[in-house]
Amino acid sequence: MSTDHMFSAKLPTDTCEYVPIMRRSGLGKKYRKMLENYQRKFDEFMHDLIEESRRTESGSASSPDQSKTIIQSLLSLQEADSEFYTLFPNICTYSAVFRLRNKLICFPAYTRSPFKSERNTVVNSVVDPKESTEWRHHAGNDLSSFVGVRKALIVTSPSAVEECFTKNDIIFANRPRSLSSKHFSYNYTTISVAPYGDHWRNLRRLAALEIFSPARIAVFIGTRKTELMLLLRELMHKCNEGGGSTKVDLKSKFVELAFNILSMTMAGKRYYGESVADAEEARKARFFIREMLENSGRSNLGDYLPFLRWVDFKGLEKRFTTLMQRLDKFMQDMVDERKQLLAAGSNGSATMIDHLLSLQENEHEYYSDELIKGIIMVLLIAGTDTLSISLEWAMALLLNQPEAIKKIKAEIDAHVPEDGLLEEQDLPNLTYLQNVIKETLRLYPPVPLLIPHEASEDCTVAGYHVSKGTMLLVNLWAIHRDPKLWEDPTKFIPERHQERRDDGFTMLPFGAGRRGCPGAGIGTRVLGFVLGTLVQVFEWERPSEEMVDLTEGRGFSIPKVEPLEAICRPRQAILQQHSLVPP
Ligand code: HEM
Repeated sequence: MSTDHMFSAKLPTDTCEYVPIMRRSGLGKKYRKMLENYQRKFDEFMHDLIEESRRTESGSASSPDQSKTIIQSLLSLQEADSEFYTLFPNICTYSAVFRLRNKLICFPAYTRSPFKSERNTVVNSVVDPKESTEWRHHAGNDLSSFVGVRKALIVTSPSAVEECFTKNDIIFANRPRSLSSKHFSYNYTTISVAPYGDHWRNLRRLAALEIFSPARIAVFIGTRKTELMLLLRELMHKCNEGGGSTKVDLKSKFVELAFNILSMTMAGKRYYGESVADAEEARKARFFIREMLENSGRSNLGDYLPFLRWVDFKGLEKRFTTLMQRLDKFMQDMVDERKQLLAAGSNGSATMIDHLLSLQENEHEYYSDELIKGIIMVLLIAGTDTLSISLEWAMALLLNQPEAIKKIKAEIDAHVPEDGLLEEQDLPNLTYLQNVIKETLRLYPPVPLLIPHEASEDCTVAGYHVSKGTMLLVNLWAIHRDPKLWEDPTKFIPERHQERRDDGFTMLPFGAGRRGCPGAGIGTRVLGFVLGTLVQVFEWERPSEEMVDLTEGRGFSIPKVEPLEAICRPRQAILQQHSLVPP
C-alpha cells in the first residue's frame, strides 16, 4: 500500500452497525477483515518509519536536539519513560505523522508519563511548558496541535497572545471542560471554570465589587497583618529556643500563611498554627486542604482520550467524587457556622461569607449556599497555591543572591520609619521590592500555561485558522524566557524592570483580557508585604554553602522540587525596637 493511498483511503461505513441483521450475511466479517488488513499495513508502515528513524538516530548520535525529527524525539522520550511509550506507542507516533501530513506544526501528543508522579496533572504531563519551549525551537513559534483528540493551540509569542486577548478575547473567554472542573465546580458554575456568559459576568462583577475592590481589600488589611505577625512571633520564638537562629521549612510556612490569610478573610477561621480554635477540626481541615490543592489542578487522561472515560482511568472520577463530597461538607460547615453566629447577633459583614450572606437575604435564589461555597472554594484554592509558590520561589532566588536581600533591606530602611514595621501602605515606595516580585513571576509564573481557554467560534491567530472548540494554552514559560525578548533570560535580575514601563504581552503572569486574574492586585500586595517584612525582620541564609536547588517540578503550578528551607535570625536593629506582639 503506498503511503498516499493509505492516508487518503476512505473506509466504507460498516453497514452492519446500522442494520444488525446484515451481520448474518457475513458482510460484518468481511468488513472486520478489511479493517484488520488496513491496520496491519498501517502498523507495518509505522514500524518501518520508526525503525528507520532509530537507525538514522544511532548513526548520528551527536545530532543536537534541534535537528532531530519528531519520531527521533519521541524515541528519546521512550528511552526515558518506556512504561508510557510502550502503552501508547501508536497514539504518539500517529499523532505526529498525521500532523506532518496536514502540514500543521507538530507537537508530541504525550510528552511525559502521567503515571509516574501522583502530583502530575495531565495538562502538565501532556503539554509541559518547559518541553513545549524545547519543541518551539524545533518547530517554529506558535503551535497548532492535538492533545490526544483535543485540538489545541499552544501560543508562545507575544504577538499571538495579543491577538488572542484583544481581537479574539471574547471568543477565547470560554474554558474547556474537564473531569476535575466538572467535579470541583458545582457543575461548572464557579468563577474560574464557568463558561463565558451572563452567570460568569455576574460572578466577575460581584468579585470586582465585593471582593477585590480597593475598599474591600482595605477592610481586611488588619487580618493580613495579624496572620503575618503570628508567623513572625512563631519564628522569633523558635529562634529564641534555638539560641538565636532557627531552620525554617519555608514551603510549609508559606502554604499555612496563605491559607490562614484567606480563610480568616473568608470565614474568620484559621486552620494552621498554635492559635487555632478547634485543633481536631483544624487537623481534618488540613487534610482536605492538602487534597484540595493537590487535586484541583489535576486532570484526567480521559479528558484527552475519550475512550478512557469509560474505564475511569486511574480511578480519578471516583476519587474526585469522594473528595468533592467532603469538600462540600467542609464549605457548608463554614457557611452554616457563619449563619449561626450572625443569627446569634455577631457583627455582620466581618468576613467575606457574612458579606455574601447579607446579599443572600435580598436575593435568596441567586446567592444560594452553593454559589457562596463555589466562590469561597475557588478563592481559597486559587489564592493559596499561587501565593505560597510565588513566595517560595522568591525566597529561593533571594537566598541565592544575597546582594538582592541587602538591596531590599536598604530600601525598606530608607522608607519605613526606624521604629516601625513595614505596612502595606509603604509598598508603592518600595520599587526594588516590587521588581524582585516581578522578576520572580517572570522566571516562575505560578500558572505557567494560564488556565486553559477554549474558542467558542472559528477565528484566526498568527495566520492560523483556529476552529471552534480548540483549546488555547498560553506558554508563559516560553514567553518569559524568550532570549529575543529578555537579555540573559534565565538570570534573576530585578533591576531589569526598573526601566521597563509597559511589559505588554511579553510578561503576563496574571493572564490578560476578560479572563485574566481578578486577584492580581491583592496577590502582589500580599507578596510584597510578606516578603518585605520577612527581610526587614530577619537575616536569611541558606542552610549550607551550597546554592539553593532551583529544579522545577511538574504540576499545574511548577512547584519547586526540593521544599525550601532556610536559616533565619532576628535582625539586631529590629529586636531593639519591636516587641512583635500582634495588634
Ligand atoms: C501571585 C499571585 C497570583 C497569580 C500569579 C495568579 C495568576 C492567575 C492566572 C494566570 C490566572 C488565569 C488567567 C487566564 O486563564 O487567562 C488566574 C485566574 C484566577 N485567579 Fe489568580 N493569580 C494569583 C493570585 C490570585 C489570588 C490571591 C486570587 C484570589 C484570592 C486569585 C483568583 C483567581 C481567580 C478567581 C481566577 C479565575 C478567573 C476567571 O476564570 O475568570 N488569584 N490567576
